[in-house]
Amino acid sequence: MKVRFNVNGEAVEVEARAHEMLLDVLRRELGLTSVRYTCGVGVCGACTVLVDGEPISTCILLALLAQGKEITTIEGLGGEHPVQRAFVEAEAFQCGYCTPGMILTAKSLLEEDPEPAEEKIRNYMGGNLCRCGCYLKIEDAVNLAASKVAAPIKGGI
Ligand code: FES
Ligand code: FES
Repeated sequence: MKVRFNVNGEAVEVEARAHEMLLDVLRRELGLTSVRYTCGVGVCGACTVLVDGEPISTCILLALLAQGKEITTIEGLGGEHPVQRAFVEAEAFQCGYCTPGMILTAKSLLEEDPEPAEEKIRNYMGGNLCRCGCYLKIEDAVNLAASKVAAPIKGGI
């Protein structure tokens, strides 16, 4: 079946089988390998993308349900996004496998709340697991992004 949606600002039309998850379609049809498969059951957050601005686990979202949606992957942030820079500055990763999903979830959090309290950061990011155990540095990165780029975030990042 054909499915049409926007990915990183571009309209695309892709082939998807009725039972296929968005994760597989993004990787196979569009080569977006930053969208990562790990648990496959919506627990780890490695496959997170933003769907209409909300962090969503694509391993449990049927591709057909993405019809007409606006999808953002880490490729769409371009590499110099303030949250990406904060993750680099805070050294908030080791292997980097979880990092795309972490950054996209953090971006969504900071758009919702530009100055989140510690508890809110931990709760909001709780659906993204890091097997390298970088949680404290990830929290530092979110705080760094919030403190250093509050103005641009408030204006829309
Ligand atoms: S691979 Fe999707 S949540 Fe783990
Ligand atoms: S940095 Fe390795 S899984 Fe998070």
